[in-house]
Amino acid sequence: MVALLSKAGKTMRNLKGISVGIVLAGSVIGMAQSPASYDETAKVFRLDGGDVTYAFGVNARGELQQLYWGGRLASTDRVGPAVPAREWASFDSSYTTTPQEYAAWGAGLFVEPALKVTFADGNRDLVLHYDHHETASDGFDIVLKDIKRQVFVTLHYIIDPVSGILARSATIENREAQPVTIEQAAAAALELPAGQYTLDYLTGRWAGEWTLTQEELHPGERVIESRRGSTGHQANPWFAIQAGDRPDEDAGEVWFGALAWSGSWRITVEKDQLDAVRVTAGFNPFDFGYVLHPGESLETPVFYGGYSAHGLGGASRLLQHYEVAHILPHRVGSGEDAAPKARPVIYNSWEATEFNVNEQGQIALAEKAAALGVDRFVMDDGWFGQRKNDHAGLGDWYVNPQKFPHGLKPLIDKVHALGMDFGLWVEPEMVNPDSDLYRQHPDWVLNFPGRPRSEQRNQLVLNLARQDVRDYVFGFLDKLLTENDIAFLKWDYNRNWSEPGWDQLPPAEQKKVYVAFTRNLYSILDELKKKHPKVEIESCSGGGGRVDLGILRYADEVWPSDNTDPFDRLTQQDGFTYAYTPQIMMAWVTDSPHWLNKRSTSLTYRMLSSMQGSLGIGANITKWSDEETATAKRLIAAYHQVQKTIVQGDLYRLISPRDGSEFSATQTVNRDKSQSVVFAFIHSTQEGRGFPLLKLKGLDPTSDYVLTPIEGALKTGSPTTASGAYWMNHGMEMGENFHGDFQAAAFRLDRK
Ligand code: DGJ
Repeated sequence: MVALLSKAGKTMRNLKGISVGIVLAGSVIGMAQSPASYDETAKVFRLDGGDVTYAFGVNARGELQQLYWGGRLASTDRVGPAVPAREWASFDSSYTTTPQEYAAWGAGLFVEPALKVTFADGNRDLVLHYDHHETASDGFDIVLKDIKRQVFVTLHYIIDPVSGILARSATIENREAQPVTIEQAAAAALELPAGQYTLDYLTGRWAGEWTLTQEELHPGERVIESRRGSTGHQANPWFAIQAGDRPDEDAGEVWFGALAWSGSWRITVEKDQLDAVRVTAGFNPFDFGYVLHPGESLETPVFYGGYSAHGLGGASRLLQHYEVAHILPHRVGSGEDAAPKARPVIYNSWEATEFNVNEQGQIALAEKAAALGVDRFVMDDGWFGQRKNDHAGLGDWYVNPQKFPHGLKPLIDKVHALGMDFGLWVEPEMVNPDSDLYRQHPDWVLNFPGRPRSEQRNQLVLNLARQDVRDYVFGFLDKLLTENDIAFLKWDYNRNWSEPGWDQLPPAEQKKVYVAFTRNLYSILDELKKKHPKVEIESCSGGGGRVDLGILRYADEVWPSDNTDPFDRLTQQDGFTYAYTPQIMMAWVTDSPHWLNKRSTSLTYRMLSSMQGSLGIGANITKWSDEETATAKRLIAAYHQVQKTIVQGDLYRLISPRDGSEFSATQTVNRDKSQSVVFAFIHSTQEGRGFPLLKLKGLDPTSDYVLTPIEGALKTGSPTTASGAYWMNHGMEMGENFHGDFQAAAFRLDRK
């Protein structure tokens, strides 16, 4: 039996090989061939899924060598065999250019290694050769072994038969009699042939996450990483590489990938001296040192890699659907029909009240939220301990008796009576020094004894790697969920690590904290979800600081940014969707002028900006006028009708706000092409420059679609019913009155 590729306690091998033709994007892409096949004569392993083929083989030296990653080949095509690349010798060195699937540092390797170790006797040379393998219907486990020592590495491969997305990870096992210290361990390395490429990745900062950064790949290494102990705002563990120097939304080859890890991570994109490109992704080797005792093993995170011949748009649609079908929790149905539930429209109290929460105030907000058509009421920070501001209370998870003299029950009961479910904010991994918890357990925080403990937002990080801390965190959350009827936790995490000491362990072992902390976080989430299966979770980290495919196995949604300005959000939402599905992209409508940048915008503009993702309301709605209330109510009702198409359909970025023009537009089409939703936004028009013609995409050209405005109008005389061919070729012309500053329009098209 092939070992199951475990995702921190969950079984991943849930896609059984499907060998019948599968229709995607109008073409038959499946073939009567198993997704995983091995050619024993040529020693070539081949994976086929969707429009993708991936192949690698064992060369004469015994190395595992990548052979091909790209568009799908015919089942009759033969790839390989693997022949080591030319060895280069010069006056002082020799080096290999063989693209290895998982190269260890040793034997004259100069490219980025996937694995680097130090043995107990000081030897640091590790050379991995093929040992044996096992085949499953949808992948392989390939076992490599050092040429002399008892270090084994099992490479796990699973291909998704629909998208062709490949999941790769490695298990490193020490069968030596002495410990081995792992200094660098990747999930996988992926190789592209020599060529000219453009690299895309996501960068940012607090309140400014999700900037798509594009640059030509030059010789040398481009490192995208977090050294912060968690995923981070500054970079996200996702990349795309496009062939050529003119990246295109709709055309051209794109290779992309994402790492499922919420601790310190690194993706290294390396263009070597022969212009070949290698992407190595895994634990961040910075300050890394994982001691493997005899008989122990270390499992890496999973690295997902995909390929599209249809530009960045094609790549993001593949990844988004994969996330919905295979990563996110709460699947309804099974197989390719599996889908997480559309997110309830939420109300969140944070921007209305900040820490000033109490029973009366929250009930007043809940009454108004229910009248708007909101599905879920969420109370944010401030309800527990002595939490009057961000200086105190974190760690003391009892209900504040002054603010809620009768506990949470009266509020929760009222929320239920109003027809909504109830959600609550927590920040489980943190502690304020001004808290009972810290006074009782000052040793529970990450720190180096005798050294200062740096605070951020007046808080310290609990060392979740410790079993007692893990048990405390699980215990209070379990109690909270058992004693109260809570449907949802907004799980916050508001600082980065500093002084990451774990003084319970011997000095040589303390760096294990980088792995153990994140694994314990996953195990708490896993156990909570099992014990309270109806509870949904939002991953928040001072905005979008913890969004990655690791946390998304447990989190049903994420908070992309503390910046809720609707214009800034357009660019952030655009960036977000290159890597993540709009299904998880929470977007609140908040008050105007905006608290951050003081920009004033209409409620309609704010609503439509947020309706591009999973809608929420975060304003002080008790102050809304009757007119504002009616507008929000009407648009929430309209959103409910088309939400599934918006958040789980095929997304086309018709005009990206990144292009710096005064216009932007998106379109989503549901999977059976029966419905489409279009959003159009104007930043600021110049006289005489009208909104560009919107040529729609992805519709069925031969079906008729009826257009209904959600907000705004088309040009006078435009048809309300026309064929998919009309909307795609002739295009949609926006109405004569669609101009000015911060304007928004939205339309739905339904197949007749
Ligand atoms: C940071 C989050 O991103 C905000 O939405 C809010 O929950 C605050 N923390 C509360 O402290």
